[in-house]
Amino acid sequence: MELINEIKELKLQLRNLKDLSPEERSKEGQRLNVLVREKEEQLRKQEQEQKMAEINSRLVNDELIDITIPDLKKRVGHLHPVTRVQLEVEAVFADMGFIIEEGNEIVTEFENFDSLNVSENHPARDMHDTFWLSDGRILKTHTSAKQNEMLKKYGPEFRAIFPGRCFRNEAIDATHENTFFQVEGMMVGKDVSIANLVYFMKSMLSAVFGKDIKVRLRPGYFPFTEPSFELDASCIFCDAKGCGICKKSGWIEFCGCGMIHPSVLEMGGVSSTKYTGFAFGFGLTRLAMMKYGINEIRHFNSGNLEFLRSIK
Ligand code: PHE
Repeated sequence: MELINEIKELKLQLRNLKDLSPEERSKEGQRLNVLVREKEEQLRKQEQEQKMAEINSRLVNDELIDITIPDLKKRVGHLHPVTRVQLEVEAVFADMGFIIEEGNEIVTEFENFDSLNVSENHPARDMHDTFWLSDGRILKTHTSAKQNEMLKKYGPEFRAIFPGRCFRNEAIDATHENTFFQVEGMMVGKDVSIANLVYFMKSMLSAVFGKDIKVRLRPGYFPFTEPSFELDASCIFCDAKGCGICKKSGWIEFCGCGMIHPSVLEMGGVSSTKYTGFAFGFGLTRLAMMKYGINEIRHFNSGNLEFLRSIK
């Protein structure tokens, strides 16, 4: 209030300058103008402070801010459990001399099916409910879609893994998602055998779980491997003694694998009479579920922070 009056008074004085001589008028005019500007600036600040005080008091008094809530704890972020398991798997295979590559999510029909011995009318196509794009390409239904490219790029002698995201147009339940992560592995060379496959899978699983894991093969069927197997791992929850999770069998189904089919090798430009190879493909999400003892796959893509934070 005071400041406003002071400014009014100064402005009045400015109006009365006309009675002074020209020199005095300009000198006094300058002095008064400076004063007015200073006072106006002070007034502006004062008003601003008042406004802030008002807002703050409203926030607290209307309980928009509860000043009794304790300070939020600072949380450190961490990697998604599937990413963590992927990095572990990559490190283990890299130690064993495997190259690590990334695959595309969008692939051709040839890459996903034909190059893997799954021709247009092959019944195995129905097993992979596929998301088709309008240009005829597809979202890869398995990481095997990169096998042909790898054979052409590195054949005839290499070992590699390629993790990637896969998509299947299927109903979602506790153990099935329409997007999931797999890790594909291939080893091609002279005299590569099933014994090599068993050795690498056993080494990887033992490293990831930090204890000795046994593996066993059962006959399986994939058009791109011959012979084909289902590989089981000894149950990590009961150390193969038999529990609810392994349905008392002591074994957990882990992945599909086999010796690369001769025509898959040939389509990749690798001679099937001189070279052999194995391939496997396992679910990374499944491995993460085993590692962290989770039985509900839908948690992983839910963005449920409560769940993600609970995984140590
Ligand atoms: N691609 C197969 C699947 O998704 C797994 C597999 C990979 C089997 C390589 C054999 C060899 O089920």
